Amino acid sequence: MAKDVIVACDFGTAEETLAFLDRFTGQKPFVKIGMELFYAEGPQIVREIKQRGHKIFLDLKLHDIPNTVKKAMRSLSRLDADIVNLHAAGSLAMMSAALEGLMRPDGSRPLLIAVTQLTSTDQTALETELLIEKPMDEVVMAYAENAHRAGLDGVVCSPLEAGKVHDRCGAGFLTVTPGVRFAEGEKGDQKRVTTPAEARALGSDYIVVGRPITQAADPVAAYQRCVKEFLG
Ligand code: C5P
Repeated sequence: MAKDVIVACDFGTAEETLAFLDRFTGQKPFVKIGMELFYAEGPQIVREIKQRGHKIFLDLKLHDIPNTVKKAMRSLSRLDADIVNLHAAGSLAMMSAALEGLMRPDGSRPLLIAVTQLTSTDQTALETELLIEKPMDEVVMAYAENAHRAGLDGVVCSPLEAGKVHDRCGAGFLTVTPGVRFAEGEKGDQKRVTTPAEARALGSDYIVVGRPITQAADPVAAYQRCVKEFLG
Protein backbone atom coordinates (compact mmCIF):
# COMPACT_ATOMS: atom_id res chain seq x y z
CA MET A 1 0.00 0.00 0.00
CA ALA A 2 1.18 3.52 -0.72
CA LYS A 3 2.19 5.98 1.97
CA ASP A 4 -0.80 7.64 3.61
CA VAL A 5 -2.17 9.69 6.50
CA ILE A 6 -4.21 7.61 8.97
CA VAL A 7 -6.76 9.53 11.05
CA ALA A 8 -7.02 8.22 14.63
CA CYS A 9 -10.78 8.25 15.29
CA ASP A 10 -10.51 8.24 19.07
CA PHE A 11 -14.22 8.73 19.70
CA GLY A 12 -16.40 6.88 22.21
CA THR A 13 -19.45 6.28 20.02
CA ALA A 14 -20.37 5.31 16.47
CA GLU A 15 -22.55 8.41 16.26
CA GLU A 16 -19.65 10.79 16.89
CA THR A 17 -17.33 8.86 14.59
CA LEU A 18 -19.74 8.75 11.67
CA ALA A 19 -20.66 12.43 12.11
CA PHE A 20 -16.93 13.23 11.97
CA LEU A 21 -16.43 11.14 8.82
CA ASP A 22 -19.52 12.71 7.21
CA ARG A 23 -17.62 16.00 7.06
CA PHE A 24 -15.22 14.52 4.50
CA THR A 25 -17.32 14.86 1.37
CA GLY A 26 -15.68 13.23 -1.62
CA GLN A 27 -12.66 11.99 0.38
CA LYS A 28 -12.18 8.73 2.24
CA PRO A 29 -9.40 9.10 4.82
CA PHE A 30 -7.65 5.96 6.10
CA VAL A 31 -9.17 5.50 9.58
CA LYS A 32 -7.68 4.09 12.79
CA ILE A 33 -10.16 2.43 15.15
CA GLY A 34 -8.82 1.79 18.63
CA MET A 35 -9.97 -0.07 21.70
CA GLU A 36 -12.28 2.66 23.00
CA LEU A 37 -14.51 2.69 19.94
CA PHE A 38 -14.24 -1.03 19.16
CA TYR A 39 -15.16 -2.11 22.67
CA ALA A 40 -18.04 0.36 22.77
CA GLU A 41 -19.54 -0.42 19.40
CA GLY A 42 -18.22 -3.85 18.44
CA PRO A 43 -17.36 -5.21 14.98
CA GLN A 44 -20.31 -3.43 13.36
CA ILE A 45 -18.48 -0.10 13.46
CA VAL A 46 -15.69 -1.65 11.38
CA ARG A 47 -18.17 -3.01 8.83
CA GLU A 48 -19.97 0.33 8.66
CA ILE A 49 -16.80 2.36 8.04
CA LYS A 50 -15.53 -0.18 5.48
CA GLN A 51 -18.87 -0.02 3.68
CA ARG A 52 -18.41 3.73 3.41
CA GLY A 53 -15.20 3.08 1.49
CA HIS A 54 -12.49 3.81 4.09
CA LYS A 55 -9.42 1.70 4.72
CA ILE A 56 -9.11 0.69 8.38
CA PHE A 57 -6.22 0.21 10.77
CA LEU A 58 -7.73 -1.78 13.64
CA ASP A 59 -5.49 -0.90 16.58
CA LEU A 60 -6.37 -3.59 19.14
CA LYS A 61 -2.81 -4.62 20.11
CA LEU A 62 -3.40 -8.32 20.65
CA HIS A 63 -1.24 -10.18 23.20
CA ASP A 64 -2.19 -13.71 24.32
CA ILE A 65 -1.16 -17.33 23.78
CA PRO A 66 -0.48 -18.16 20.12
CA ASN A 67 -3.62 -20.25 19.58
CA THR A 68 -5.91 -17.55 20.98
CA VAL A 69 -4.24 -14.81 18.94
CA LYS A 70 -4.44 -16.94 15.79
CA LYS A 71 -8.20 -17.37 16.22
CA ALA A 72 -8.78 -13.74 17.16
CA MET A 73 -6.83 -12.65 14.07
CA ARG A 74 -9.02 -14.91 11.94
CA SER A 75 -12.04 -12.95 13.20
CA LEU A 76 -10.35 -9.61 12.46
CA SER A 77 -9.38 -10.79 8.99
CA ARG A 78 -13.03 -11.60 8.23
CA LEU A 79 -13.88 -8.03 9.22
CA ASP A 80 -11.77 -6.94 6.25
CA ALA A 81 -9.47 -4.63 8.24
CA ASP A 82 -6.51 -3.38 6.17
CA ILE A 83 -3.96 -3.19 9.01
CA VAL A 84 -4.09 -4.93 12.42
CA ASN A 85 -1.53 -5.10 15.21
CA LEU A 86 -0.20 -6.99 18.21
CA HIS A 87 2.49 -6.71 20.88
CA ALA A 88 5.88 -8.01 19.76
CA ALA A 89 6.41 -8.98 23.44
CA GLY A 90 4.01 -11.88 22.85
CA SER A 91 6.88 -13.85 21.24
CA LEU A 92 7.87 -15.05 17.78
CA ALA A 93 5.49 -18.00 18.15
CA MET A 94 2.57 -15.67 18.83
CA MET A 95 3.46 -13.43 15.87
CA SER A 96 3.73 -16.41 13.50
CA ALA A 97 0.41 -17.78 14.73
CA ALA A 98 -1.17 -14.36 14.18
CA LEU A 99 -0.02 -14.34 10.56
CA GLU A 100 -1.51 -17.80 10.01
CA GLY A 101 -4.81 -16.69 11.48
CA LEU A 102 -4.97 -13.62 9.26
CA MET A 103 -4.60 -15.51 5.98
CA ARG A 104 -7.89 -15.53 4.06
CA PRO A 105 -8.97 -18.46 1.88
CA ASP A 106 -8.09 -16.40 -1.24
CA GLY A 107 -4.50 -15.93 0.01
CA SER A 108 -4.92 -12.25 0.92
CA ARG A 109 -4.53 -10.91 4.46
CA PRO A 110 -4.50 -7.60 6.34
CA LEU A 111 -1.08 -6.09 6.97
CA LEU A 112 0.21 -7.05 10.43
CA ILE A 113 2.37 -4.67 12.43
CA ALA A 114 3.84 -4.88 15.91
CA VAL A 115 3.99 -2.57 18.89
CA THR A 116 7.55 -2.82 20.25
CA GLN A 117 7.50 -1.03 23.61
CA LEU A 118 4.64 1.30 24.48
CA THR A 119 5.76 4.93 24.51
CA SER A 120 4.21 5.19 27.96
CA THR A 121 6.85 2.77 29.29
CA ASP A 122 10.01 4.61 30.30
CA GLN A 123 13.49 3.31 31.02
CA THR A 124 12.79 3.05 34.77
CA ALA A 125 9.65 0.96 34.27
CA LEU A 126 11.50 -1.18 31.73
CA GLU A 127 14.17 -2.02 34.29
CA THR A 128 12.29 -2.10 37.59
CA GLU A 129 8.91 -3.51 36.47
CA LEU A 130 9.57 -5.49 33.30
CA LEU A 131 13.07 -6.48 34.52
CA ILE A 132 14.65 -5.73 31.13
CA GLU A 133 18.03 -4.20 31.86
CA LYS A 134 18.86 -2.77 28.44
CA PRO A 135 18.58 0.70 26.93
CA MET A 136 15.09 1.35 25.54
CA ASP A 137 16.23 1.94 21.95
CA GLU A 138 18.05 -1.43 21.94
CA VAL A 139 14.92 -3.16 23.18
CA VAL A 140 12.75 -1.41 20.58
CA MET A 141 15.10 -2.39 17.74
CA ALA A 142 15.41 -5.99 18.97
CA TYR A 143 11.61 -6.31 19.10
CA ALA A 144 11.35 -4.77 15.61
CA GLU A 145 13.83 -7.37 14.35
CA ASN A 146 11.80 -10.14 15.97
CA ALA A 147 8.68 -8.86 14.21
CA HIS A 148 10.59 -8.82 10.93
CA ARG A 149 11.91 -12.34 11.52
CA ALA A 150 8.38 -13.59 12.23
CA GLY A 151 7.32 -12.26 8.83
CA LEU A 152 5.32 -9.23 9.97
CA ASP A 153 4.94 -6.21 7.72
CA GLY A 154 6.19 -3.49 10.06
CA VAL A 155 6.03 -1.77 13.42
CA VAL A 156 4.41 1.15 15.17
CA CYS A 157 7.18 3.58 16.12
CA SER A 158 8.09 7.24 16.38
CA PRO A 159 8.99 9.00 13.11
CA LEU A 160 12.31 9.64 14.88
CA GLU A 161 12.94 5.86 14.89
CA ALA A 162 11.75 5.20 11.32
CA GLY A 163 15.21 5.50 9.73
CA LYS A 164 16.82 3.14 12.22
CA VAL A 165 14.01 0.58 11.79
CA HIS A 166 14.44 0.71 8.00
CA ASP A 167 18.22 0.32 8.38
CA ARG A 168 17.80 -2.76 10.56
CA CYS A 169 14.78 -4.40 8.93
CA GLY A 170 14.82 -3.12 5.34
CA ALA A 171 13.20 -0.25 3.49
CA GLY A 172 10.09 -2.33 2.78
CA PHE A 173 9.40 -2.94 6.49
CA LEU A 174 6.60 -0.50 7.30
CA THR A 175 6.92 2.24 9.90
CA VAL A 176 3.53 3.43 11.12
CA THR A 177 4.17 6.51 13.18
CA PRO A 178 2.03 8.43 15.68
CA GLY A 179 3.37 11.50 17.51
CA VAL A 180 2.78 13.94 14.67
CA ARG A 181 1.93 17.60 15.21
CA PHE A 182 1.77 20.73 13.06
CA ALA A 183 4.71 23.08 13.61
CA GLU A 184 2.64 25.55 15.62
CA GLY A 185 0.31 22.96 17.22
CA GLU A 186 -0.28 21.81 20.80
CA LYS A 187 1.75 18.73 21.72
CA GLY A 188 -0.86 17.44 24.18
CA ASP A 189 0.54 14.37 25.97
CA GLN A 190 2.90 13.46 23.11
CA LYS A 191 6.51 14.13 24.05
CA ARG A 192 8.71 13.40 21.03
CA VAL A 193 6.84 14.82 18.06
CA THR A 194 7.58 15.67 14.43
CA THR A 195 5.62 17.58 11.79
CA PRO A 196 4.11 15.65 8.85
CA ALA A 197 6.87 17.04 6.60
CA GLU A 198 9.59 15.90 9.02
CA ALA A 199 7.97 12.45 9.25
CA ARG A 200 8.12 12.28 5.47
CA ALA A 201 11.79 13.27 5.41
CA LEU A 202 12.56 10.67 8.11
CA GLY A 203 11.01 7.91 5.99
CA SER A 204 7.71 7.17 7.79
CA ASP A 205 5.38 5.04 5.69
CA TYR A 206 2.15 6.02 7.44
CA ILE A 207 1.57 8.81 9.89
CA VAL A 208 -1.19 8.35 12.48
CA VAL A 209 -2.74 11.68 13.39
CA GLY A 210 -5.50 12.13 15.96
CA ARG A 211 -6.18 15.36 17.80
CA PRO A 212 -4.51 17.75 15.34
CA ILE A 213 -7.30 16.66 12.95
CA THR A 214 -10.19 15.53 15.18
CA GLN A 215 -10.00 18.59 17.47
CA ALA A 216 -9.30 21.15 14.73
CA ALA A 217 -11.81 23.90 14.07
CA ASP A 218 -11.84 22.64 10.48
CA PRO A 219 -10.90 18.92 10.53
CA VAL A 220 -11.14 18.55 6.76
CA ALA A 221 -8.67 21.40 6.19
CA ALA A 222 -6.35 19.97 8.87
CA TYR A 223 -6.48 16.54 7.19
CA GLN A 224 -5.74 18.07 3.79
CA ARG A 225 -2.82 19.99 5.24
CA CYS A 226 -1.42 16.75 6.70
CA VAL A 227 -1.76 14.99 3.37
CA LYS A 228 -0.09 17.87 1.55
CA GLU A 229 2.81 18.07 4.02
CA PHE A 230 3.30 14.30 4.25
CA LEU A 231 2.72 13.21 0.67
CA GLY A 232 3.94 16.39 -0.98
O1 C5P B 1 -4.19 12.54 19.12
P1 C5P B 1 -2.87 11.96 18.71
O2 C5P B 1 -2.39 12.47 17.35
O3 C5P B 1 -1.82 12.04 19.77
O4 C5P B 1 -3.23 10.42 18.48
C1 C5P B 1 -2.25 9.46 18.20
C2 C5P B 1 -2.88 8.09 18.14
O5 C5P B 1 -1.85 7.12 18.03
C3 C5P B 1 -3.70 7.72 19.36
O6 C5P B 1 -4.79 6.87 18.92
C4 C5P B 1 -2.73 6.95 20.22
O7 C5P B 1 -3.34 6.01 21.04
C5 C5P B 1 -1.89 6.24 19.16
N1 C5P B 1 -0.54 5.86 19.58
C6 C5P B 1 0.40 6.78 20.06
N2 C5P B 1 1.65 6.37 20.44
C7 C5P B 1 1.97 5.09 20.35
C8 C5P B 1 1.06 4.15 19.88
C9 C5P B 1 -0.21 4.58 19.50
O8 C5P B 1 0.11 7.96 20.11
N3 C5P B 1 3.19 4.71 20.68
